[in-house]
Amino acid sequence: MNIVVLTGAGVSAESGLGTFRDKGGLWAKYDPMKLATPEAFAADPAAVYAFYNARRSNLLTAAPNVAHEALTRLQTGLAARGGRLSIVTQNVDDLHERAGSRDVLHMHGELLKARCLSCHAVSEWRADLGGTDRCPACSAVGWLRPHIVWFGEMPFNLGEIQTLLSEADLFVAIGTSGAVYPAAGFVQDARMYGVRTREMNLEPSDNHYRFDESAYGSATGIVPRWVDGVLAAIDARGEAA
Ligand code: OAD
Repeated sequence: MNIVVLTGAGVSAESGLGTFRDKGGLWAKYDPMKLATPEAFAADPAAVYAFYNARRSNLLTAAPNVAHEALTRLQTGLAARGGRLSIVTQNVDDLHERAGSRDVLHMHGELLKARCLSCHAVSEWRADLGGTDRCPACSAVGWLRPHIVWFGEMPFNLGEIQTLLSEADLFVAIGTSGAVYPAAGFVQDARMYGVRTREMNLEPSDNHYRFDESAYGSATGIVPRWVDGVLAAIDARGEAA
């Protein structure tokens, strides 16, 4: 069985990282147009650096939860049975990787990386980032920005994601509100490829009606149960995944 999972902020919510659109979420407290656009960075880089520095230091004290761990178990379990789990995430945290998942596609960038606007190199970055930092690759000073996809910018890995969707048996969206495209459109893309679709979220998302099946509850409750069920069903059929 070949599964593509798309994760969103809901998967990391129980690790203590804020979601965006829930009551009390990041975009309820802050204006994304002032913090998450190239124009905002040009107008007030200090405010943008400070926003991502706070999120980075929060991430460094967070830990993966049992939903991240269950997805790693699914990835390993499917691989052992001749199948595949591809994880595509809108999350900029590294909690899937810290839980042991491999080859995670970060379509909205990564908080623990910085990108040089002079040489375009992407470097690991765990400290605070600011306008006087030096690029580890080219040594230019003052050209580093958070390696985050801002509104108005093109997400990463879109071609590869379409290929994965076209080859899947099942597409599962977990912990995402379905409000931000192109990720919100993957369910329609999957359906177009004839792929079964499933939503797992705290509550019905903006495009819940597009999914073939759904389960609602906290990610730490519903994801491990679903993973157990998928692996048990494959084993019960006694066939390769
Ligand atoms: P949102 O904040 O829009 O949606 C999070 C979803 O997770 C909501 O539907 C919640 O109901 C659900 N949720 C909250 N807690 C949960 C839990 N414990 N278990 C399961 N579900 C839970 O976040 P995203 O959909 O990820 O982009 O947002 C997409 C993009 O919008 C982000 O990647 C970010 C943002 O602007 C950029 O920064 C480029």
